[in-house]
Amino acid sequence: MSGKEAKKETKKEANKETRQDKPLPKEGPSKSLSIEDMAVFCKRKGLVYPSSEIYGGMAGFFDYGPYGTELKNNLKNEWWKSHVQSREDIVGIDGSIISNPKVWVASGHAEQFGDILVEDLKTHERYRADVLIEEALKIQADGLSAEDLGKLIKENNVKSPKGNSLSEPRKFNLMFTTNVGPVQSEESKAYLRAETAQIIFTEFKNVFETSRLKLPFGIAQMGKAFRNEIAPRHFLFRCREFEQMEIEYFIHPKKHGECPYIDEAMAEKLMVYSAEMQEKKQEAKEMTVKDALAKKVFKSPWHAYWLATEQKWFLNLGARRENFRIRQHKKDELAHYSSDCWDLEYRFPWGWKELEGIADRSDFDLQQHMKHSKKDMSIYDEETKEKVVPHVVAEPSLGVDRSFLVFMFDAYDDDKKRGNIVLHLHPKLAPIKAAVLPLVNKLEDKAKEVYGMLKNDLFCFYDRSGSIGRRYARMDELGTPFCVTVDFDSLEKEDVTIRERETTEQARVKINDLKETLRKLVTGEMQFKDIKR
Ligand code: GAP
Repeated sequence: MSGKEAKKETKKEANKETRQDKPLPKEGPSKSLSIEDMAVFCKRKGLVYPSSEIYGGMAGFFDYGPYGTELKNNLKNEWWKSHVQSREDIVGIDGSIISNPKVWVASGHAEQFGDILVEDLKTHERYRADVLIEEALKIQADGLSAEDLGKLIKENNVKSPKGNSLSEPRKFNLMFTTNVGPVQSEESKAYLRAETAQIIFTEFKNVFETSRLKLPFGIAQMGKAFRNEIAPRHFLFRCREFEQMEIEYFIHPKKHGECPYIDEAMAEKLMVYSAEMQEKKQEAKEMTVKDALAKKVFKSPWHAYWLATEQKWFLNLGARRENFRIRQHKKDELAHYSSDCWDLEYRFPWGWKELEGIADRSDFDLQQHMKHSKKDMSIYDEETKEKVVPHVVAEPSLGVDRSFLVFMFDAYDDDKKRGNIVLHLHPKLAPIKAAVLPLVNKLEDKAKEVYGMLKNDLFCFYDRSGSIGRRYARMDELGTPFCVTVDFDSLEKEDVTIRERETTEQARVKINDLKETLRKLVTGEMQFKDIKR
């Protein structure tokens, strides 16, 4: 069956089942949309705008609009609920963006955190050397040394995108600097954080002593991070200001093999692309976590557990399985702090790219901070009755903005039958949960009454302008899962129509039951087909 035919088949199915149940097509709708088109759509619908556009914009910076802010907040809330609030073993913090610069010296970022750039010798424009080579030679170049990149450029006569010769590759530090206090000097220099992770390490002892945690445990944080990317590109994918959702997961240094949660992950299917498979030029292969562990694909069950957990989080919120795979870093790709790393990758329109990195950081960071601050970072392990410096067996590190793109690409559908775009966003993520629409303006009083009843509990939208079909289409384009229509019968029978975005089917509900019905539909406690009619 061709990709197009598969799409048709699935649309037929969509009339019978909700998106969460239905079989997914082999190629998601993301394939039909470029990142440039996505940026245009996001601007048109009030989701994301280029920052300071009235002054010509600024590369790598974006402003989220009214509906993008809602979607982003919903995404972050879902992550916080599932990764922090619903778990006994993980607590959260909210650290500062600027901290003592010694933090970044200890972590190695001040010295080593960078990419390798090359300069167009004629225009003096600068490019990331690995990205240029990847595009020119269609090979994986991330993590190669300046020397190796230089060799590849010479051997293959790689030119700049403008067709000019390139300089020798050299290192470029990505940390943004600022000055703290009234004097601008070397002494007042500070960094904007390049990852949220370091604040977890510097607060490690405080958090441990105040939250009654026992090993193994995690500390999570979400928030802004800043990187002076050489070549910000692909819209929200690589920006200079972005958000991360990170966890440092600490274990007893001798218990890398003991993951008490592994049974929850055993049945999860992952498309695996190990370092060995890449070196042998093999294809990625689907396997269950159970099979992968039996074949010793992972060094520790923790990596398997976290990769499966992270993929499941995306799938449970409506992302498409066929657009995910996990890829192990080859030795020459590993960051300075990492002994093993797997990425959860997503099939963006321009290829498989990192969505989330899950690195084994061992005790690198705690040891570094211990050395530089001269403060003891060891903790007492009640089980083994000894003092240990825990190891970070896994650091699930996910970008909010990249996740935003994933949910948008997997939701976007140019529905020719309806004649409008439909965003199939999971109701939990949808910016607007329900729109209240009076069929005609005469019904405004009743419709306002219904809207007033809902608005404190659900983010609703009141829309009176245009034909009802046009109003449904506008809501489809924003991914609003339910529209509530107030008609003349509503005045007599005290009921309204709920129209479901996924199927366009309608059901009549008593106004008294409306709030609870919508709440259940949004949380997934109830399916639309189960509404009593
Ligand atoms: N603490 C580890 C760490 O920061 P990373 O792979 O550099 O690891 C983690 O970043 C995640 O942060 C990435 O997988 C990506 O989702 C997001 N991210 C990194 N750089 C980004 C950028 N310039 N723009 C948007 N998201 C970015």
